[in-house]
Amino acid sequence: MSISRVFATATALALLGLVAAQAQNSLGGSVGLGTPITEADVLAWNITIFPDGRNLPPGSGVAAAGVQIFAEKCAACHGEGGKGGSNPALITDQPLKGNGIEANKTVRNFWENPTTLYDYIRRAMPWPAPRTLSNEEVYALVAYILAGNGIIEKNAVMDATSLPKVIMPNHGNFILRYPDLI
Ligand code: HEC
Repeated sequence: MSISRVFATATALALLGLVAAQAQNSLGGSVGLGTPITEADVLAWNITIFPDGRNLPPGSGVAAAGVQIFAEKCAACHGEGGKGGSNPALITDQPLKGNGIEANKTVRNFWENPTTLYDYIRRAMPWPAPRTLSNEEVYALVAYILAGNGIIEKNAVMDATSLPKVIMPNHGNFILRYPDLI
């Protein structure tokens, strides 16, 4: 091996060593990049409610408790009593008509799982101020919408145990693409 080859090899090895040392530094955290996320941080974002009800929070609600909340926070867009306004009707007995995106899908004629209602309302409504409702308020609104649609009894209490047991009218008409992921 010529002198210059030896020199080049030694330089390459030294550089490799430097890269390895730097990688070790960042992995070891000694350069201070990245902070492990805390359980509390995770909890604030971990709001997914699974179809079977996993992750539903504590609390409960009945339709009667939802009447006033709905009137104050939802009716402006969804109409009085949820019958529809500038935004979709939430309480209606319209049958499913049309195909695909054009179909008039509603909670009653289309939604497969009652638990989605909880997830959706807590995550996205009221439209101008999402994530401002308490867990109790969401349970009350879910009960109000389900009872209004005749899916549960008027005085049924909705909580983490009872809500997943509600059978939606369109349940069973869906084909799961990846059943193992649910
Ligand atoms: C400022 C208007 C506005 C207010 C207030 C509002 N919503 Fe909505 N809501 C919308 C819009 C717009 C959509 C449709 C969103 C979309 O399709 O992406 C929607 C969709 C929904 C849906 C899904 C309906 C469906 O069939 O797909 C539900 C359930 C719902 N809202 C519940 C509520 C509840 C409960 C409240 C009160 C806490 C509320 N919304 C307040 C505008 C509003």
